[in-house]
Amino acid sequence: MFFIKSLVLQDFRCHRHKSLPFGNAANIIIGKNASGKTSVVEAIYCLALGKSYKATSAAEMIRKGAPFATAKAEIANRGREDVLFLSIGASGKKIVLNNKPIPRLSDYLGYFKVIAFSPEDYRLIKGTPGDRRNFMDVNISQMSPGYLRSLIRYRKILKQRNEVLKSLADRSVRGDEDLLNILSSQLAKEGRVIINERTKFFAGINPIFSERVKQISAGAERGDLNYIINTDPHLLEQSYTRKRASELAAQTTLFGPHRDDFEMRINGEAAAAFASQGQQKTLCLASKLALVDMLAAGDSPLIAILDDVFSELDFNRQNQILQAVDRKFQVFITATSVAGLAEGLLERGKIINIEEEE
Ligand SMILES: Nc1ncnc2c1ncn2[C@@H]1O[C@H](COP(=O)(O)OP(=O)(O)OP(=O)(O)O)[C@@H](O)[C@H]1O
Ligand SMILES: [Mg+2]
Repeated sequence: MFFIKSLVLQDFRCHRHKSLPFGNAANIIIGKNASGKTSVVEAIYCLALGKSYKATSAAEMIRKGAPFATAKAEIANRGREDVLFLSIGASGKKIVLNNKPIPRLSDYLGYFKVIAFSPEDYRLIKGTPGDRRNFMDVNISQMSPGYLRSLIRYRKILKQRNEVLKSLADRSVRGDEDLLNILSSQLAKEGRVIINERTKFFAGINPIFSERVKQISAGAERGDLNYIINTDPHLLEQSYTRKRASELAAQTTLFGPHRDDFEMRINGEAAAAFASQGQQKTLCLASKLALVDMLAAGDSPLIAILDDVFSELDFNRQNQILQAVDRKFQVFITATSVAGLAEGLLERGKIINIEEEE
């Protein structure tokens, strides 16, 4: 069994100092609006992934006026006791596990995996391609450290390559042509790894997703996920050669997985254009539930966060989530009150009133 026994926040968002004890199953965090519930689960998410699902910059998470924010978790890890520590300061983020600093996120990811259901999930349909790539990247990285390593290298090479394209467009410097060729082939190499991993991911999640859509809609709807590859992995390197003129004109890299996207489809049609609000909710929920199944497979433990999602959902949908996560791993649920939460959950869960804890 793996679970967070306690969490101490210091200057994290609105919390000057907050110490919270948790149970090993469902933890229901109750408090009025702006009492800091989301901030608590955000800290847990950050402890798993080194980044927030919400903040655009890490500095946002430091309490206004404070120099840095910290979150410390005591963890029961299959009979062992771990201490996990996160600090966020002006110079960046640091994760320390049992007094050992983690130098690279790609070596750490998967210590525990996390999935967060939040009201922001609608962005999977209505948001930007960047939102959807973030969804792919976060979740595939949790399952494959190699993916994250390729992604980090890809981003670095992409940045360099874009700079070279810019300088070549500005003034035709001869030497840079060679550099461009080297970077193109390095980029294509990492790009192929990323596209192949994404292809594998969609092949794995798609049947589970379709099944979930069927279940949630009681058989009324058919859903699937369509991975939209910007450039075929086999054609990546030759696109950089054959279509160089267009890249020079644009002064940026036009081909590769940094321009990938995916769409959710309902009954064969793109959800962004065709799905009703209820259908969109069904699809978003189905994609998250399918992810739970994917992430729960494998050795590393999973923790689920349900931030402010229950107040929006009918009992049928609430129960779909509970059946997927409850009793399998530790769960954190935030709500403004216990009203509207399924009864069985309240009996089993630990209720934490955030305004009463110190
Ligand atoms: N860096 C920061 N420093 C100080 N306060 C902050 C910081 N970031 C956010 N806050 C404030 O923290 C408060 C708590 O926010 P949080 O989102 O955790 O509340 P919540 O309990 O989830 O509320 P809701 O029920 O409305 O979702 C808000 O008033 C917010 O403005
Ligand atoms: Mg909130």
